Amino acid sequence: MPIKKICCIGAGYVGGPSCSVMAMKCPDITVTVVDKSRERIAQWNSEKLPIYEPGLDAVVRECRGRNLFFSTDIETAIREAELIFISVNTPTKTFGMGKGRAADLKYVEGAARMIASVAAGDKIVVEKSTVPVRAAESVLKILRANNKPGACYQILSNPEFLAEGTAIDDLLNADRVLIGGEDTPEGQAAIHELSWVYEHWIPRSRIVTMNTWSSELSKLAPNAFLAQRISSINSLSAVCEATGADVSEVAKAVGLDSRIGSKFLQASVGFGGSCFQKDILNLVYICECLNLPEVAAYWQQVIDMNEYQMTRFSEKVIQSLFNTVTGKQIALLGFAFKKNTGDTRESPAIHVAKTLLDEGARLHIYDPKVDSSQIMHDLTHPMMTDQPENVKNLIEIHSDPYTATNGVHAIALCTEWDEFLNLDYGKIYEGMMKPAYVFDGRKILDHKKLIKIGFHVQTIGKRLQRPLVNRLWGSPNQV
Ligand code: NAD
Ligand code: UGA
Repeated sequence: MPIKKICCIGAGYVGGPSCSVMAMKCPDITVTVVDKSRERIAQWNSEKLPIYEPGLDAVVRECRGRNLFFSTDIETAIREAELIFISVNTPTKTFGMGKGRAADLKYVEGAARMIASVAAGDKIVVEKSTVPVRAAESVLKILRANNKPGACYQILSNPEFLAEGTAIDDLLNADRVLIGGEDTPEGQAAIHELSWVYEHWIPRSRIVTMNTWSSELSKLAPNAFLAQRISSINSLSAVCEATGADVSEVAKAVGLDSRIGSKFLQASVGFGGSCFQKDILNLVYICECLNLPEVAAYWQQVIDMNEYQMTRFSEKVIQSLFNTVTGKQIALLGFAFKKNTGDTRESPAIHVAKTLLDEGARLHIYDPKVDSSQIMHDLTHPMMTDQPENVKNLIEIHSDPYTATNGVHAIALCTEWDEFLNLDYGKIYEGMMKPAYVFDGRKILDHKKLIKIGFHVQTIGKRLQRPLVNRLWGSPNQV
């Protein structure tokens, strides 16, 4: 049965870009991305897409209306498709059993129940959302328990590995595509069908097939490994600051070991994003449920180290500003969790902002791609504060980095946007209160140049020394 129609449930950061690329590379297949959010679908059908992702606009422009459709008519899309991706969100549970750790599978279950209620005939259901190991079993149970006459399902695991900011390239040149399925003739046939779709642009050698549970675990594992590398280098950044070693030099030396490699060794204010923390917490919870407390504690430490790093950065700001930021103006440059995305989920900037707001600082926030409504939403969310009106009064959101930094005591750089490299820091210095501080949470700025201008500069994993003549404030090691 050659696949002619694909439906993807969930038009988010994964469903939107992955199906757009699929439609571009498979002109012989009609791809319909559906979502229960009318607003999101309207945005996918408009000139301003709901997510910022370099290269995405061009792909959507090429395929939308040809063989790529965005719709809220979920039932029709399910009924007509031979292959259905589930790409809905799987956030950390916020209440009940497993609160704060387990993945909340209510959206996956909702999607499965919707498929069961409308599907007839043969369907391949593909779990693309990140889920706990053996989640496919629950999906299959729901589908088979609600079987309509003539409906026959195969369920596959096909986790997504794209990173935001580089999603289009990651999808076009995926280093691997994992497909997990049942070891039965029907299961293998379904794997073959999905593999055929990817073979439109991914070399067969990069399409790896395995059993369903291995595939599910092979999604959580790399996220845990990658986050672990960041926490490892961040832990050493604290040692560097205490000893005078430079974490960039250490990272370079470590990365030159071909067994280790150089990627994901960039010390920072901490890792953010919707998945690292969520997926590791999920892994921790799975281990606890499997009565493997030592394994759970091992991975929990990756999260704890990240929390420590974000707190350490915020405390450095407060301590440097003479142990009080109450009533002081601080500019936050960058609010997204990394550059080239407008996504703020679990952004370290939120953690830093909250700590500074709790201390009574007034924040001036600038990010080139995050909407001001999103920043306000993140910082006034009930999980952040029980006094949203107070918080609103302490925040000003700017559309320009120069107005954001004008008149402030300090700048805290939280996202590594390229445009921050080329700002006129001489002009910024002139407009700031003195002594003027820069806290570079991403280690991207030219610190020597900033010090020469007159700034007091602090960064991650390196002590910066001001020339003696410039040292007017703080201890000799503090700049
Ligand atoms: P998202 O929140 O951006 O999008 C999910 C969408 O699913 C939302 O628009 C929501 O309205 C929709 N939805 C939920 N239930 C629905 C239902 N029953 N019917 C129709 N629509 C429904 O989430 P995301 O970032 O795209 O992540 C999706 C999954 O992919 C998660 O499991 C995540 O862990 C995983 N993942 C994400 C990334 C990433 O970079 N964001 C990368 C790899 C894997
Ligand atoms: C990550 C993985 O890289 C993807 O493979 C995976 O598909 C995705 O999670 C997911 O499952 O959602 P993403 O979170 O989009 O992708 O972005 P990353 O590039 O991994 O960055 C995550 C965080 O780590 C960012 O805050 C980034 O600034 C930080 N980071 C990254 C560092 O602090 N140092 C580094 O060296 C690298």
